[in-house]
Amino acid sequence: MNAVSLRFATRTFEVGTLAAATMLVLLAGQRALSAQTDKPATEIKIQADQVTGHVSPMFYGIMTEEINYSYDGGLYAELVRNRNFKEDPKDIVHWQLVQNGGGSGSISLDPGTPFNEAVPTSLKLVIDKASAAGRVGIANDGFWGIPSKPNTTYKATFYAKAATGFNGPITLAIVGNDGTTVRASTQVSGLTQEWKKFEATLKTGDVPVTAENKFVLTAANPGTVWFGFVSLFPPTYKDRPNGFRPDIMQLLAGMKPAFLRFPGGNYLEGNTLDTRFDWKKTLGDPAQRPGHFDDAWWYWSSDGMGLQEFLDWCEDLKMEPVLAVYAGYSLRGGARITLHSQLEPYIQDALDEIEYVTGDVNTTWGARRAKDGHPEPYKMQYVEVGNEDGGDNQPGSYETRFAQFYDAIKAKYPNLKVIATDTVTTRVADVIDEHYYRRSEEEMASHASDYDSRRVLPSGFGKAPHEVFVGEWATRVGDPTPNWGAALGDAAWMVGMERNGHLVKMEAYAPLLTRIDPDGLQWLTDLIGYNSVSAYGSPSYYMQSMFATYHGDDVVSITARNVPNSEWLPAAGFGIGNVVRPNQPVQTAGSRGPRPQRIPIIPQNGPVQQPAPQDLALMHFDATRDSKTGAIYVKVVNRASTPQAVHVVLTGVASVEPNGRTITLSGSGPDDTNTITEPTKLVPVTAEVSGLGTDFTRSFPPYSVSVLELKTTK
Ligand code: AHR
Repeated sequence: MNAVSLRFATRTFEVGTLAAATMLVLLAGQRALSAQTDKPATEIKIQADQVTGHVSPMFYGIMTEEINYSYDGGLYAELVRNRNFKEDPKDIVHWQLVQNGGGSGSISLDPGTPFNEAVPTSLKLVIDKASAAGRVGIANDGFWGIPSKPNTTYKATFYAKAATGFNGPITLAIVGNDGTTVRASTQVSGLTQEWKKFEATLKTGDVPVTAENKFVLTAANPGTVWFGFVSLFPPTYKDRPNGFRPDIMQLLAGMKPAFLRFPGGNYLEGNTLDTRFDWKKTLGDPAQRPGHFDDAWWYWSSDGMGLQEFLDWCEDLKMEPVLAVYAGYSLRGGARITLHSQLEPYIQDALDEIEYVTGDVNTTWGARRAKDGHPEPYKMQYVEVGNEDGGDNQPGSYETRFAQFYDAIKAKYPNLKVIATDTVTTRVADVIDEHYYRRSEEEMASHASDYDSRRVLPSGFGKAPHEVFVGEWATRVGDPTPNWGAALGDAAWMVGMERNGHLVKMEAYAPLLTRIDPDGLQWLTDLIGYNSVSAYGSPSYYMQSMFATYHGDDVVSITARNVPNSEWLPAAGFGIGNVVRPNQPVQTAGSRGPRPQRIPIIPQNGPVQQPAPQDLALMHFDATRDSKTGAIYVKVVNRASTPQAVHVVLTGVASVEPNGRTITLSGSGPDDTNTITEPTKLVPVTAEVSGLGTDFTRSFPPYSVSVLELKTTK
């Protein structure tokens, strides 16, 4: 046995031989302990001096893209929707004409009066008749309303010009949907016949927390005004201009993410070359950014969340950027570039982008970053070439494209680790990004030991050992956010990844964020949900935060015996568990169409074969040790509906202190969950515990995820 296989051997899980006694045949999704009378106690043996791997400092991370209104209408705090009037070339969507008390006027899109090169149109307001009591103007309905909160300062920015004879004033106000209740207001004047920028603040007093408002700009005298860009920001995280929603940022900070993989996901690629994430168009003054149609997820992206904002986000949460570069492949429309000469500009674009992130101020793009407000280069170790290029079904396409990107990146940045999104053979990718979406708790749990048995890498993964980045994964049960059953599946999966730190170096759940409003999401199930006024973490969010908070840096050997199990009937076929919602234009496994290995395989000449039932472990374990303090963190996932006693035996330590603590997250059953109205129903609970040692037995609650923190001496 060589060293590698020995390591796996020590990790072997012995599942109890209880299945023979099982009398129940369970349908998929049900669970019960196998029927038996003489159940031997579950036992875990931890060999604290047998280090099998390390928890990478980059292990716990997050992944995002513009999906489910993650940025516009989400993390990016802008409150005005369609702020540069480009969302629909024919209609001024999300804007309405205001005509109060006998005032009259009209609004239209006016491409004849372009605002700037990026915004070749404007909103024209003609006020025919107006008075103090009969104001006329425009109102924006925001992203499911404009939120107001008490004693809060909002920053408004707009660009406008006027026809001769009108110079204002313009009143800016947050007004209730009744059209009369003013939550905050201010005035600006001095409009001229040239485009001019106006900035103002609006302060609320003792107003209710509500999104039942509009942002309204009106005048009390006749005239013609053009607007080029209208923006309203609430207070942002760390007061960053063009910044982020504090409540969502605080939730994200709780995950202690080491990295951010961005900007996608399908959003990176777009359906066509024109609708990819074209990073150079996302830089600088937001009023000069064209924005683009996010056709991967079917809504307008303001590109307010541009490359620099992604980096700001990294800085604010002390995350390292994991930059995914466009790799010459878009989801639809035949955009696939494999010829070296044609791919060259995109390779250069990727090199420029890396330079923007990491180059010093003497480089072209480092200088541009300095001009954008950040002279200091960012630390970045990983670059990803594309996204899910297994979806590119042209044989050899990714192989060819990856090789070209890889060579160019390595030539200029030899220390950068290059991540491949699919198998490659002509180059040795440093890391492979694997994505796993599962349809049920049981399906996810059935994969919890996958990495235990990844002795050698699958053929085609190159010659050298690889690092694995599980760049997207989720148990997709729960709407809009995962329920407790999904979180238990996720916990089983996380234990499996953490236990295999020698191989799995990074992980990120996906998708991370979602609006919970009607029509606000394209993809179920998502980790963190929000509306205009508040946000909440799902049970899986709290489970993942627990994992990221309580762990050591050494993975130590753990073996389990007599693990309770239940019989599970897997769902037929393969799938990623997409749940199609009515009224959603894009609901598939990405707009490229489903990937072959992910859709139900329906034979032409017969029904899908029902797989045989499986015995599925109901408990999952790992153990990590803090190499400095000696503390051992034992993670125990109990998916069973009954408490489970576990006999714990520790070797390789001189002693274990009798007192330690547990951090426990549990639910009443798989359907239990957190919601926007009960945001903290399921949260971790910390308790001091006694009776610990090198040999002890503890009971773990039903449907629970626990971390047991043991203090040891060597
Ligand atoms: O996370 C949602 C989508 O799933 C991502 O955009 C894509 O990479 C994957 O197919």
